[in-house]
Formats: sequence, C-alpha cells, structure tokens
Amino acid sequence: MATNNPNEEDRLSAASDELEVGDTAPLEPDTNNDDSDFDDGDSAIESLASSTASIREDLIKEIKLHGRGYTGYMEAKYLLPMDEEERERCDFQHHIVWLTINQKLNLAPLKHINRVLDAGCGTGIWAIDFADAHPETEVIGVDLAPVQPHNVPPNLNFEIDDLEQDWTFSRKFDYIHSQMMCGAFKDWPRYIKQCYEFLEPNGYFELQDLDVVIRCDDGSMPSNSTIVRWHNYMHDGANKAGFPLDQIPKVEGMMRDAGFVDIVAIPTKWPINTWPKDKRFKEIGKWVSENFNWGAESMTLAIYTNFLGWSIDEVRVFAAAFRADLRNKKLHAYWNFWVIYGRKPE
Ligand SMILES: C[S@@+](CC[C@H](N)C(=O)[O-])C[C@H]1O[C@@H](n2cnc3c(N)ncnc32)[C@H](O)[C@@H]1O
Repeated sequence: MATNNPNEEDRLSAASDELEVGDTAPLEPDTNNDDSDFDDGDSAIESLASSTASIREDLIKEIKLHGRGYTGYMEAKYLLPMDEEERERCDFQHHIVWLTINQKLNLAPLKHINRVLDAGCGTGIWAIDFADAHPETEVIGVDLAPVQPHNVPPNLNFEIDDLEQDWTFSRKFDYIHSQMMCGAFKDWPRYIKQCYEFLEPNGYFELQDLDVVIRCDDGSMPSNSTIVRWHNYMHDGANKAGFPLDQIPKVEGMMRDAGFVDIVAIPTKWPINTWPKDKRFKEIGKWVSENFNWGAESMTLAIYTNFLGWSIDEVRVFAAAFRADLRNKKLHAYWNFWVIYGRKPE
C-alpha cells in the first residue's frame, strides 16, 4: 500500500498555511549529506518510570510472544507489545509528535476545558504534560494496558478500559485527544462516533496520527524496495487481524459523518531519515528514523507471525533489511502525519 503521487494534501494546504504546522510541498533532498548538526545525541526524552496502576488485576492479560510482552484489559488484543522497551519507544515517539506540532500538546482552539480525555494514553506521557500545563482541568487517561506511573499530577487519573466497547463515562468531556492510535481499533467510525457522543457541546476532538502509507515524490523509492514491501505486508497482516492501518486520512470524513463542524485537517511529513535539505524536516527525520529503527521488530512481530505465518527468524531478517532502507538517504520517502480536529456543535 504505497503511493508515489499523493494528492489529498492540496485540498487541505490552506489550513496548514494558516496554522504554520503542516508543510505539504515536496521536500528537497539534501545533496550535502553532512548530518553533523544532528548527531550530538541530544536527548530531551526521558523514559518515565513505569509501574502497574492496576484496577482489576484479574482482568489484565499478559501474553509473551517471541520474548516480547503483550498486555491488556480483558484480552491482550493490541497488535504491538506494551513491554518496557515498547513503552520507552512510545515516549520517544511522543517527543516526535510534540516536535512535529511545533512543541505543542494540542492545536484545537481550546477555551473552557474542565474535563479532558486522553484516549489510548499509553504510558500517560501526553496526559501528564497536559495535566501539568492545565492544573485547573480534570484529565483522564484511558488505555487497555496498565502501564501508567503512580506519581502523576493530582488533576490526572488513569483508567484501564477497552475503548472499542460501549463507553460508560459518567460525565462528558470538553476535549478528547487521540494520539498515535493507528492500528488500535477495528471500527474507527464507531470510535469517532463515541468521541462525538462523549463531548460536551462546543467540545473538541483532536487526532494526531501517522498515515502508515509510505510515499515518495521523486521516483527514488522502487516499488520492489524492502520499505515498500514492509508496508504492503503490514497492511495485509493488519487487515487479516481486523485492525486496518489505512484509516487516518479517512478520519476527517468520519468526523463529518458523526456531526463535527469546523473541522481542520493538517497534513505534514515524517521523512524516513535525514534526507531532506530543510533543517526542520531533517531533524524530524532523524528522530523518525530512530523511532522506526527501534520499532521495526515490535511493530512487525505479531502481525507477521500470527497473521502472515512468518517464522521469527524470517521476521528478524526482514526487519534488518527494513532498517537498512530506513538509513538509505537515496530513498526520499516519507509518511504523512495528520493533525485533525473538529468541534461538536452547540
Ligand atoms: C502507539 S500507543 C500510543 C499511546 C499514546 N497515545 C502516545 O501517543 O504515547 C497505542 C496505545 O493504544 C492502546 N490501545 C490499543 N487498543 C486499545 C483499546 N481498544 N482501548 C484502549 N487502549 C487501546 C495501547 O495499549 C497503547 O498504549
């Protein structure tokens, strides 16, 4: 599932210009290839001490697969592990999202935010930052996996639940945040509808997520390259598992169908490495490359072994080849990263 000719950006470029976050013009490659500015290993990323904030221990399932730990409420159905290594990667990834949206936690124009939901909060890193920044706001982070820390701001609570079930929150929210949940849900339209239903009038839903379709504008990515094949297999396996990976660009339409208004959809780019000339995209590419290098096995493992029938050795060999493509600056490839938000009318 790869394309060399994206065109959906055109429609939305006005919104991105206005907010100065998205940049939909084709990226110019850096012919210099000197990345010394970006190799100092600066790390603003600190892994959170994670511990189990268990609500119903008896309902939490833990599954081991080829040395990785999958955990979740009722059934460990999420396709990625949530073990310590993956939790560190999620925190690292959160930092990239934050950089991508100009070091902000949200772009929706929030005014009165009494109650906020972080849907699929993972380690809770966004929810903690948001609760710190808005001490007057009650923040709730919900996730399948009990992987959130205990020591959190007093205005933040975590709940363990499956967001694919009927939501049972006793009160509605003024803002619902959904970050990097691609591949987490079988039925995205239903998820968006529940978000709409559980917002107060004038409340905002905001998605910050990656469209897992690999793209290239200048023909430098052969259709038989490992990176293209890796994506094709990912989509094939995820579809077999029932968790489609192609839903993010469709979210804007789902939001309109659910009743949202004032929808703003902003695409920007995650280059696969430091190939672009532009400094901002070069920096994002550096982090993105590391993120996928790190996640090459965790993202692939369950999908390829359980749903495509690969052996663990085949997965590891292919993941190594995928990592080599991630480092190849001759491949001017990127993913679209989307911020999409909208308001529930009065
Ligand atoms: C890639 S992580 C993103 C975490 C967090 N939003 C972030 O950006 O750091 C996806 C998260 O979704 C959670 N998840 C997957 N399916 C879920 C479901 N049905 N209900 C609640 N959480 C779910 C996983 O446990 C995991 O923590």
